[in-house]
Amino acid sequence: MARQIIPVDPFDYIIFGATGDLAERKLLPALYHREKDGQLPDECRFVGAARSKLSRKAYQGFAKSALEEFVEEEDRDDTCIKRFLDRLDYMPLDVTTDDGWDDLAKMLNDPEGKRIRAFYLAVGPGLFGPISERLEQHDLINDRTRLVIEKPLGRDLESARELNEAVGEHFGEDQVFRIDHYLGKETVQNLLALRFANHLFEPLWNAQHIDHVQITVAETVGVEDRAAYYDKSGAMRDMVQNHLLQLLCLVAMEPPASGDADAIRDEKLKVLRSLKPIDDKTVEDNTVRAQYAAGAGPNGKVDGYLEDLARDADEGEAFSSTATFVALKAQIDNWRWAGTPFYLRTGKRMAARMSEIVIQFKPVPHAMFGEEAGKPVSNKLVLRLQPDESVRQWIMIKDPGPGGMRLKRVALDMSFAETFDGRAPDAYERLLLDVIRGNQTLFMRRDEVEAAWEWIDPIMAAWDDINQPMRTYTAGTWGPSQAIALIERDGRTWNDGDA
Ligand code: BG6
Repeated sequence: MARQIIPVDPFDYIIFGATGDLAERKLLPALYHREKDGQLPDECRFVGAARSKLSRKAYQGFAKSALEEFVEEEDRDDTCIKRFLDRLDYMPLDVTTDDGWDDLAKMLNDPEGKRIRAFYLAVGPGLFGPISERLEQHDLINDRTRLVIEKPLGRDLESARELNEAVGEHFGEDQVFRIDHYLGKETVQNLLALRFANHLFEPLWNAQHIDHVQITVAETVGVEDRAAYYDKSGAMRDMVQNHLLQLLCLVAMEPPASGDADAIRDEKLKVLRSLKPIDDKTVEDNTVRAQYAAGAGPNGKVDGYLEDLARDADEGEAFSSTATFVALKAQIDNWRWAGTPFYLRTGKRMAARMSEIVIQFKPVPHAMFGEEAGKPVSNKLVLRLQPDESVRQWIMIKDPGPGGMRLKRVALDMSFAETFDGRAPDAYERLLLDVIRGNQTLFMRRDEVEAAWEWIDPIMAAWDDINQPMRTYTAGTWGPSQAIALIERDGRTWNDGDA
């Protein structure tokens, strides 16, 4: 099945932090792919803005190298690369001073405010407010202007509120696009289709029929060269507050009345607000935090977190109380989910790169087949987000052939790669153009971000209050034994990507 390409209106995309890591690895390659697929109108332009005093030509050179490194060879087409680079301009700008803003306004040259204009702030959150302020001072904001920001959106509720306030002074909420790149992943969006475009699942989608839900986002990478950021953040702020809770919301929310951005975001918000608080008394039973120790990575021996940290900081011994792994048992206190736990876990340097959502159904109420048939295994729906995106529904059938009734477990299996032609687009490709379309469905609203912090903050405070032990796990494993105990105490097991 070929994919349909929907054109968008002419626009200007201005990327602040244009020489940074995100622009190089993700944004420029994503925009290039949209070019290659013929989705960009002739009149659209991209402007990189950063502190370095580069010429337009030099920035085009930077972008060209980024494409060479981060776009697969088979997708690199000289004509498309040239067309893409021709659209690129550059403006040297120190966003903390007044210099350069008038030049930027001149470059964008749209006195009647007809063009869609998106400012992507690929810079630290401390600059979101100051940049928004200067954009307004220099008359660069009108009704067709949008602002794109990305995590860290605060490090707790208070700082998230401050950030939202700072941006909200200059932009309306309908102009602010807060990226959680997990929402741009195909399989994550597919969760919406699966739940709400099929009759099959929704009647069973509740505590009466679902025993529990597991959400795992496991990575094999360590902190790489991001230790300075990561050590202040850790798995809870880096992954759980955003990606994992967003996934939980999509699994748990009530059917929205429409596909409208706010209809969906209203329902997600209700889920976040229904999460049962975890406090000093319950934190030990419901959470595990841990740090990786030396062990094995996909390419051989790897160091532990503290050694990685010391190397990155160029110092000898490092100490850190930052968790690189978190497992949680979350409860949603509402009619639909009362009694059905959601087990979440995420970590660096785990046994495999694997993100999946497991919906574990309850056992059949009565086993009518004799002992020789074998015990029916409860149904399980596994949504594999990455790698090898797939939807797999495990069911019981009769093992074919003579010999009486023997039950067998098989999967109704839909692999995206086998079913659909062509490459799977990266999450940013979808999200960057949704900004231009003005479609906020896959972006987090202010109240969602704040509600997520409201649940996370007390857990992190409780860790400190009760001095919850920092467990360790060997790199290349599925986390510490305490995380296994967290679920096994309840008579359940982690899926570990095997089915
Ligand atoms: C980012 C985190 O948001 O998501 C990283 O900051 C993490 O630490 C990354 O590695 C994972 O994203 P993906 O798309 O590779 O699963």
